[in-house]
Amino acid sequence: MELKGLLLAGGTGSRLRPLTYTGAKQLIPVANRPILFYAVEAMVDAGVTDIGVIVGETGPAVRAALGDGSRFGCRFTYLPQSAPLGLAHAVKTAEPFLGDAPFLMMLGDNLLRGGLKTLVERFARGQFSATILLTAVPDPRPFGVAVVENGRVVRLLEKPDPPPSNLALVGAYCFAPVIHAAIRTLRPSWRGELEITDAIQTLIDWNLPVDAAEVEGWWKDTGRPEDVLEANRLVLEDLVPYCDPTAEVSPDSTLTGRVHLGPRVRVVRSHLRGPVIVGEGAELVDAYVGPYTAIGPRVVVRTAEVEHSVILQDSHLVDLALRVDQSLIGQGVVVAGGPRRPRALRLVLGDHSRIDL
Ligand code: G1P
Repeated sequence: MELKGLLLAGGTGSRLRPLTYTGAKQLIPVANRPILFYAVEAMVDAGVTDIGVIVGETGPAVRAALGDGSRFGCRFTYLPQSAPLGLAHAVKTAEPFLGDAPFLMMLGDNLLRGGLKTLVERFARGQFSATILLTAVPDPRPFGVAVVENGRVVRLLEKPDPPPSNLALVGAYCFAPVIHAAIRTLRPSWRGELEITDAIQTLIDWNLPVDAAEVEGWWKDTGRPEDVLEANRLVLEDLVPYCDPTAEVSPDSTLTGRVHLGPRVRVVRSHLRGPVIVGEGAELVDAYVGPYTAIGPRVVVRTAEVEHSVILQDSHLVDLALRVDQSLIGQGVVVAGGPRRPRALRLVLGDHSRIDL
């Protein structure tokens, strides 16, 4: 069965402000690669190569990052969404592109280890109107939640409290073209969105078979800063050690565990304890970089310590008395300390920044 693809890269990313004031949430890097790239690779890996990409206000940045698809072995068609009015609204927007083809839909801010192959194979084998992906989570209230009986999905609710089960809907779905008819019957939910969860419930109400597969590996929705850090930790668990031939490490530096150094990285009198990835042209001088840290391209860490953090490109951490821990730092940020007196915090912060001292 030939499936088309639908990749969702719109939305506002309000929970990831201030980073999302200047960029798309799907382009925030995890282990130094945009989250969105992992979704594309999983789709291509599952044999889906004709992919419509839903874009919103951040469309130009998403296009610039993804290109025409040739570098991923697929073809992208960009589909601007008039406003972020929900996942089912995104499908509606894509209807002219999808036509009457069955399709695989993936949320661009979701990370799935274990890929999409099982989902696609199950859908292709059966006569289902939809196959959804589920995973048990400790608190399913922020997600769509499914009730499964004898392997069939019997009920779906969006963000229920109390939840009727612990099975959350993961952001990957296969649909038969009948989903378009179901979406046409929807009304906006309490949050003003057309919910894909409600559309799938409509299929169930119409007595159409909805199948569910469970996630193999792990799943992470990267909606909040702590999720990005956790996704970064999970991806770095699989980091392969590497030292680019153009990277320089001074003899008085130590590298322990799995460390990946990109081109022209400089490590001087520093201690790196992996898993750590360091992007092109970054400089670590008199620094400690601890486990689960992604240092972006051209970042400078001088006389400072950082651990379990994601630092985006061109930022500087310099002369810091305290270790930077569990932090998500945007592009071109300067965090500088020093012996200045009186000791005080001098801050220039964008809207919705957050500092914990
Ligand atoms: C959306 C879906 C929800 C699903 C979640 C997965 O939620 O509505 O059913 O569980 O993605 O990430 P949203 O991110 O819009 O809150």
